[in-house]
Amino acid sequence: MEAFQHQLFTLIGGLICFYVLVKCIRFMKYIFPHMWSAVPQTFFRSMGEWAVVTGAGEGLGRAYSFELAKRGLNVVMISRTLEKLQRAATEVEQTTGQKVKIIQADFTKNSVYENIEKNLQGLDIGVLVNNVGMLHNPLPCRFLNGSDIDESLVNCNIISVTKMTKMILKQMESRRKGLILNLSSGLGTFPCPLYTMYSASKAFISTFSKALQAEYKAKGIIIQVVTPYGVSTPMTRYQKPDLITKTAEEFVSESLQYVTFGDEVFGCLAHEVLARVLQFVPLWVFHSNRFQETVLHSFTNYLKKMWRNPNP
Ligand SMILES: NC(=O)c1ccc[n+]([C@@H]2O[C@H](COP(=O)([O-])OP(=O)(O)OC[C@H]3O[C@@H](n4cnc5c(N)ncnc54)[C@H](OP(=O)(O)O)[C@@H]3O)[C@@H](O)[C@H]2O)c1
Repeated sequence: MEAFQHQLFTLIGGLICFYVLVKCIRFMKYIFPHMWSAVPQTFFRSMGEWAVVTGAGEGLGRAYSFELAKRGLNVVMISRTLEKLQRAATEVEQTTGQKVKIIQADFTKNSVYENIEKNLQGLDIGVLVNNVGMLHNPLPCRFLNGSDIDESLVNCNIISVTKMTKMILKQMESRRKGLILNLSSGLGTFPCPLYTMYSASKAFISTFSKALQAEYKAKGIIIQVVTPYGVSTPMTRYQKPDLITKTAEEFVSESLQYVTFGDEVFGCLAHEVLARVLQFVPLWVFHSNRFQETVLHSFTNYLKKMWRNPNP
């Protein structure tokens, strides 16, 4: 009996070690993306002539526009404020020499899609970045204490992704190639109190992207959900970059190396590590009243201090 127990524990221990080893080896791809599965320089251009980026005037959207133009694509930049959009478009055009087209649209409104579709007609679109997104409230707060913008948030964070995808996926399907990147958030990977509306909308994006990838993978289309934790952009009031908070440029150039790494990535090494650490924290910790009170008081003060510009 003792010998059997010994053998059983040795077997279980061996299997656990093997499992951890396989996980570690698989994780190496985020540390050495070039060696593991290098995305060739021509990869993005081979998808098509144009990229379409939503929420492109500033932040991550602007960085995606730059990085994709640097990789040889012309870019359609779609965003809300015309002046910011024009400024960003000129910078992309002059720096990269690629063509840039701009479309002014406010994704909180459902009336914008006819104009967008008209402007995209005839373009060979290889890459779509569904980047636009908004918070329910800039600071964490309980559902009833936030501003009354539920419909705008659903339009901006959810409807924009489904409408833009439907518009562009059709031509990708007929050409049997294309890349769609959908921006979710680390706060959407679990039911996150105090960011309830935002968290729920990002969980939608994650499920939508993964299910859609299963439907269209065999047709040669890559659909990936990108799940950042902290990036220094207008959304985070240009929070000072550190080990976790990346600049938009750093984050995007790293995440574009991960596009062939499966249906979900956290976008950069620091966020990949953070995601794996956070998975060990039980959900009840985040859901406890004590945690929420701490976030509402200490964390809110910390955020205010970290934000470079609390009133942009
Ligand atoms: N930053 C982070 O730490 C972080 C973390 C996780 C996930 N994400 C996600 O990543 C995506 C991009 O984030 P970000 O931080 O770059 O966002 P951001 O700083 O809030 O957005 C920047 C750009 O989006 C445009 N925009 C905002 N609302 C719009 C609307 N209703 N219609 C059209 N354009 C709109 C802004 O337009 P204007 O020029 O008019 O201001 C601006 O050009 C979002 O989906 C966000 O949820 C961000």
